Amino acid sequence: MPCPTSLPSWARLQAFSTQQPSLKDLSPFRLQAEDISADLSLQPIGSDVRGLLANLIDEAHVPAKRDAMVRGEAINVTEQRPVLHMALRASSTGPAPWGADIAQAIATQRERFLHFADAVRDGRIVTSNGLPFSHIVNIGIGGSDLGPRMVCTALGAKAKNPLPVFFISNPDPWCIQDLTEQIDPLRTLFIVQSKSFTTQETLAVFSTLKAWLLSHGIEASKVMQQFVAVTARPDLARTHQFEEEKMFVFWDWVGGRTSVWSAIGLPIALHCGSQTFKQFLAGASTMDKHFQQASVHENLPYWLALIGIWNRNFLNRTSHAVVCYDWRLRLLPAFLQQLEMESNGKSIQVDGQPSKVKTAPVLWGGLGLDGQHAYFQMLHQGTDIVPVDFISTLGDEPESKDAQINKRIVDLNLQAQKQALAQGRSLQETVERMRVEKISEDHIHQLAIHRSYEGKRPSNHLVLRNGLTAFSLGQLLALYEHKVFTQSVLWNIPAFDQWGVELGKTLAKRLEGN
Ligand code: F6P
Repeated sequence: MPCPTSLPSWARLQAFSTQQPSLKDLSPFRLQAEDISADLSLQPIGSDVRGLLANLIDEAHVPAKRDAMVRGEAINVTEQRPVLHMALRASSTGPAPWGADIAQAIATQRERFLHFADAVRDGRIVTSNGLPFSHIVNIGIGGSDLGPRMVCTALGAKAKNPLPVFFISNPDPWCIQDLTEQIDPLRTLFIVQSKSFTTQETLAVFSTLKAWLLSHGIEASKVMQQFVAVTARPDLARTHQFEEEKMFVFWDWVGGRTSVWSAIGLPIALHCGSQTFKQFLAGASTMDKHFQQASVHENLPYWLALIGIWNRNFLNRTSHAVVCYDWRLRLLPAFLQQLEMESNGKSIQVDGQPSKVKTAPVLWGGLGLDGQHAYFQMLHQGTDIVPVDFISTLGDEPESKDAQINKRIVDLNLQAQKQALAQGRSLQETVERMRVEKISEDHIHQLAIHRSYEGKRPSNHLVLRNGLTAFSLGQLLALYEHKVFTQSVLWNIPAFDQWGVELGKTLAKRLEGN
């Protein structure tokens, strides 16, 4: 397993880190992966650096590692597990390099939970009083919350007859109170989502909400009719009396943060319908094909990973912002935070040796327009340079004139920010501008420096060019998953465990015992 610093091109890249090209002089660098157009031109990467970065992919054996993942080898070495989220979204009639048994198990569960979702939506599955369910509540945390929550939020605006879904990840009494004020105890279906079925927060919310139903007159013998379990530990779910037909399983080879493609996606199917969920899987599957088939020079996941490596390891950028110019994507940064930071926030290599290079940067972000009036000051003039991924959508805005005008405001702001970050405004230009504004020479002397922008602040721009659909959202999430995987191989760290979160859990349990 090569340590990154031993890769021939890694050493050669070091020499370029002090001579960055101006962001004004670079030739365009655009890639297309399915419905996603990526403008990667505003990165301080000249042709020499680009060539050396591309070499890293083969030098670190990324394609071989990817193929080992697809074959179902136990690439999650610290837990001795395969990593097969790609199998979850593959067509059930296509090739199954992970084996027929796994393909069959996936198809069976998928069919079961999608059938269940449609039956609840159609009113064929009803409450114990024969009423259709009016609300869904997702109880879960981390990967059992962030993925379905983000996807429901992103796709809800265009969903036909959306069944309202609430997400609760937190047993904080104020959070429970907030939820219970909004739902009808007699007509709500609760999905307890937990891969391990041992997560303290999730089990606490489950038990509190079950007690709440009982306190609202639901008979003890009927209360579990309102609960569904989604888990990789059906044995543990059974100890809580879930009904067999209301249990959906997935497997230990699905990571929590990549589980949205499994039955953990049930709230999406309940909110938007099974067809939408199938489109979401199909979109991800097309990105899987791109990841497996596109050449190094055209492979978008590779390039998001390589650009991240360049910024992190050679230019010492400590954080990375994901800024969305589509309100529907407002929860994407929180989802990506878990995906990137829980996967690659590691300091020990796969071989147990300490990492010699920096790994995952801090990922943060939000909605662009709101950010412009908050943290963009720091992006433009702060002492740290923060590479940004701008994400926007094209072509599915409502047709009304007002909608068109407002969408233009959103898009033009993105263009302006991208340009301002990259090009800045020199002191001389600022002085000239202030003179045009008829500002006194005294004030110009005092203020021009504060009103100048250094520029040279890099960004990527990803555009969902056929709008935000289940299909394109599936592609976008799979793109980031493959970026994270590629970076983990380049850094030689294990991406699919999360031992770092265990100590705090153990201490919390110990404190509870005291
Ligand atoms: O504590 C971290 C973590 O294990 C995540 O990896 C996971 O997504 C989350 O907790 C929830 O875990 P579970 O689905 O087992 O309840």
